[in-house]
Amino acid sequence: MKKRELGKSGLFVSPIGLGCMGFSHAYGKPTDRKKAIEMIREAVKIGYTFFDTAEIYGSEENPHENEEIVGEALKPYRDQVVISTKFGIRFDTESGQYPSPLIPDAREEVIRKSVDESLQRLQVDMIDLYFQHRIDPHVEPEKVAKVMKELIAEGKIAHWGVSEADEEYIRRAHAVCPITAIQNRYSMMARHYEKLFPVLEELGIGFVAFSPITNGFLSDKYGKDSHFDKHLDYRSVMPQFTNDAIDENQQLLDLLKMIAQQKNATSAQISLAWMLSKKPYLSAIPGTRKIERLKENFQACEIELSQEEIKMIDQKLNEIPMSAVFGVSSKKVEV
Ligand SMILES: NC(=O)c1ccc[n+]([C@@H]2O[C@H](COP(=O)([O-])OP(=O)(O)OC[C@H]3O[C@@H](n4cnc5c(N)ncnc54)[C@H](OP(=O)(O)O)[C@@H]3O)[C@@H](O)[C@H]2O)c1
Repeated sequence: MKKRELGKSGLFVSPIGLGCMGFSHAYGKPTDRKKAIEMIREAVKIGYTFFDTAEIYGSEENPHENEEIVGEALKPYRDQVVISTKFGIRFDTESGQYPSPLIPDAREEVIRKSVDESLQRLQVDMIDLYFQHRIDPHVEPEKVAKVMKELIAEGKIAHWGVSEADEEYIRRAHAVCPITAIQNRYSMMARHYEKLFPVLEELGIGFVAFSPITNGFLSDKYGKDSHFDKHLDYRSVMPQFTNDAIDENQQLLDLLKMIAQQKNATSAQISLAWMLSKKPYLSAIPGTRKIERLKENFQACEIELSQEEIKMIDQKLNEIPMSAVFGVSSKKVEV
């Protein structure tokens, strides 16, 4: 497995990283802590060198548990891995809505408290890659970037980035303190950020793709008989998992199945190989709580798709019907 450089940052990661969120958050009952630690360590053995978490990944009982788990699991492997975590949002738990809406908060004092607490929970001296989780409309990008510059100078973080970043924010923040990577939603059903590729290339910034299997949907392992906990599993409200959406997305699932058969692979692997083959500065971070899927997802980096195959797939993705997707406001994807 050849590591990839995130942009021109000098930070190298495995093409497939492990999104650790699901061990503690959004996909049902949290995984038993010991089991989660074992899984993360198994991922290191498989070859993963990139692990993603966030200060807000946790449960009602332990709102920051994910960072604690990642920290404990990776302590023996500190020199071999890159850990990314995130700051700058909290849940609006008073809203009574599920999932709780996010409240962005990137005030300097909030960031400084967050970074110190994340360092402690992760049991590290320095965070390798620190993402602003969501843009805060009340705090200018230059202000956040200035704090990042100071945190780098203080040795608390090595690199920084922005999640769900747009072009203007990237340009303005990058001018103050160079951004190593953005972390945006990207999958065959959510291609709206492809428009940022030229900007990333111009500025030498990497792309970390989150929810790359469209929250598991593209694996074709879920159907009308799948049941998701209404209080603990975000999939219970994700538009791509409704019965109507399963019908609407059938052509897409069939396309994936056909390519998977040709490549002796699985649908999930093709959905990952497709994005890896697109850009060399992109790393995808699928999440899973099953050992066999850890291996399956990682092996996607061995599957090669030619530029002609990518073009053919993109053409089809432009044409075939698709349902709405969680986290994407517009159904129409501009590419
Ligand atoms: N920056 C942000 O705002 C943001 C937002 C969301 C997520 N993230 C990051 O991105 C990571 C991944 O995103 P995600 O978990 O939302 O979406 P995802 O990786 O697209 O999908 C994860 C889901 O797919 C299932 N899955 C994974 N591999 C599979 C396979 N080979 N076959 C069948 N099912 C499979 C998992 O179930 P099992 O566990 O049962 O395998 C899990 O429910 C997160 O862990 C987190 O680190 C970041």
